[in-house]
Amino acid sequence: MKRRIITTADGSKTIQIEDWDEQYHSKHGAIQEAYHVFIKHGLRLFQNEKIDLLEIGFGTGLNALITFLEGQKLGLQIDYVGVEAYPVSMDEVMQLDYCKQLEVENQYQTFLEMHKSPWEQKVEIGADFILEKQQKDFKEITDENLFNLVYFDAFGARVQPELWTEDVFSIMYRAMKSSGVLVTYAAKGSVRRAMQAVGFMVERLPGPPGKREMLRAVKS
Ligand SMILES: C[S@@+](CC[C@H](N)C(=O)[O-])C[C@H]1O[C@@H](n2cnc3c(N)ncnc32)[C@H](O)[C@@H]1O
Repeated sequence: MKRRIITTADGSKTIQIEDWDEQYHSKHGAIQEAYHVFIKHGLRLFQNEKIDLLEIGFGTGLNALITFLEGQKLGLQIDYVGVEAYPVSMDEVMQLDYCKQLEVENQYQTFLEMHKSPWEQKVEIGADFILEKQQKDFKEITDENLFNLVYFDAFGARVQPELWTEDVFSIMYRAMKSSGVLVTYAAKGSVRRAMQAVGFMVERLPGPPGKREMLRAVKS
């Protein structure tokens, strides 16, 4: 499917899938959304510990980069697994220019390393951050009781309804540790009910700019 780079409301860039009119991040601000949903309401629940983190949709690597940066501030040792079926190209990564947007140009090599790291291998990206990118469909995830935190960042239910189902949330539930947390930008009632049906306790939280609410689910 045809992809193009667009600029969002906070000046940061994202990728748009033209045929779907769907973006990798919010048009209201890619970086703002990523920080709000995944860092503020996800990563910041943890401090001075080792965590296993699963990202559903590694995509542009923006979430991985900001998690690397924030993880250092929080004293976290992070084992980060990014699952992605359709990797972005290096050309797209260069155009997105996230280190400049985030004013961390000194981390440029780190971000490149994330993208250049081989698939299906654990790679040390700095002392406290291990990245393993797995190229596969989300439905092929078979881990059990492993993850403390899940970033559920699939495309929206409007375009990929099959990813917001009880089937997929039960895969997430199984992959998470007890008391593990899943965060997503989505807020739809049907999504919340699918999460609850597989056993999650779900709370609605204020959403990022342009969205009233988002969801956070805890494995009980
Ligand atoms: C909203 S984007 C993710 C954005 C990403 N977290 C980032 O920071 O750039 C959704 C991602 O899921 C991937 N994807 C879509 N369907 C998938 C599937 N069934 N299995 C694995 N990856 C899939 C897409 O290629 C895309 O990279």
